[in-house]
Amino acid sequence: MESQLRNSRVLVTGGAGFIGSNLVEVLLEQDNEVVCLDNFATGSRLNIEPFLNQKNFKFIEGDIRNAEDCKKATDGTDYVLHQAALGSVPRSVKDPVTSNDVNVGGFLNMLVSARNAKVKRFVYASSSAIYGDHKGMPKVEEETGNPLSPYAITKKVNELYAGIFADLYGIEVVGLRYFNVFGKRQDPNGEYAAVIPRFVKSLILHERPEIFGNGEQSRDFTFIENVLQANQLAALATGSGALNTAYNIAFGERITLNELYSLLRENLSAFDPAISAIEPIYTAERPGDIPHSLASVAKARIQLGYNPQYSVKEGLQKAIAWYWENLK
Ligand SMILES: NC(=O)c1ccc[n+]([C@@H]2O[C@H](COP(=O)([O-])OP(=O)(O)OC[C@H]3O[C@@H](n4cnc5c(N)ncnc54)[C@H](O)[C@@H]3O)[C@@H](O)[C@H]2O)c1
Repeated sequence: MESQLRNSRVLVTGGAGFIGSNLVEVLLEQDNEVVCLDNFATGSRLNIEPFLNQKNFKFIEGDIRNAEDCKKATDGTDYVLHQAALGSVPRSVKDPVTSNDVNVGGFLNMLVSARNAKVKRFVYASSSAIYGDHKGMPKVEEETGNPLSPYAITKKVNELYAGIFADLYGIEVVGLRYFNVFGKRQDPNGEYAAVIPRFVKSLILHERPEIFGNGEQSRDFTFIENVLQANQLAALATGSGALNTAYNIAFGERITLNELYSLLRENLSAFDPAISAIEPIYTAERPGDIPHSLASVAKARIQLGYNPQYSVKEGLQKAIAWYWENLK
């Protein structure tokens, strides 16, 4: 089974963001024609700057809430890797309407455009947030609980829409439930920054990072390279059993935030020994957060041939080296 996309035309929505720009990079390296649709809501021009002068790259500044922009980006496309969305549980708690407009309305526009353009496959970013209050661990795809945030609802609705579009119109869809992805170009700034870049930036600046709650909540942190592999496998998978469903995309191990903090501090101390003395500050828990998260990746292994190559420790070493170069 093919595992890498090559010589195809691929649309990456949200390509100026963290995951999207990493996808764009690898797809260009593999001789694809890549179109990126992004409105810079949370992404940045800096993330796509290295690609702008490449002849196989086309950037469309546009909004997935606008059906015309979606059509323009999708026409002539073989594969859609749909990443554009407003991430962050707290953002959706503060402004559920905008999260819904982008994550549900925009998603539906993209599905309609992909169907009309007769793309070969529509692969989209779902989320581990789908598991909500379900207590079982590890999380298996068929057992989800009640969503705990507007963000989680939007991702659940995405999966429902994708399923209906597969049934009604025959479009091939694959959802990827990412578990806390990290790696280069993940934004460390702003109130909705993800935990790893937020901690790393604070430590580099010799500031005390804030841990919400007691730090004993756990996550299956997933290095970006594993996500790049999963997207390509999902686009190329054959066999009807592999399609029109959603997969956990993670490494399949969890660590607590306190353990993560120690690992980050230890790794960064190699660059700057003063960091080893910095202690975190513990503050109140955040509403909507899931206490524990651990994925079973068995379904993706069996159906897609997913074989994550980077553990959290291996991924952190690479990510930290990048942040040290780019933030110090
Ligand atoms: N990073 C994670 O840990 C994680 C976990 C689970 C799911 N996801 C999902 O993966 C996807 C990518 O996440 P990310 O971490 O790269 O986030 P990101 O914020 O870095 O990237 C999202 C991109 O989408 C763009 N975008 C937002 N609204 C848009 C709109 N209306 N029109 C066009 N573009 C728009 C942003 O400008 C940004 O470039 C999202 O769908 C997110 O929900 C991410």
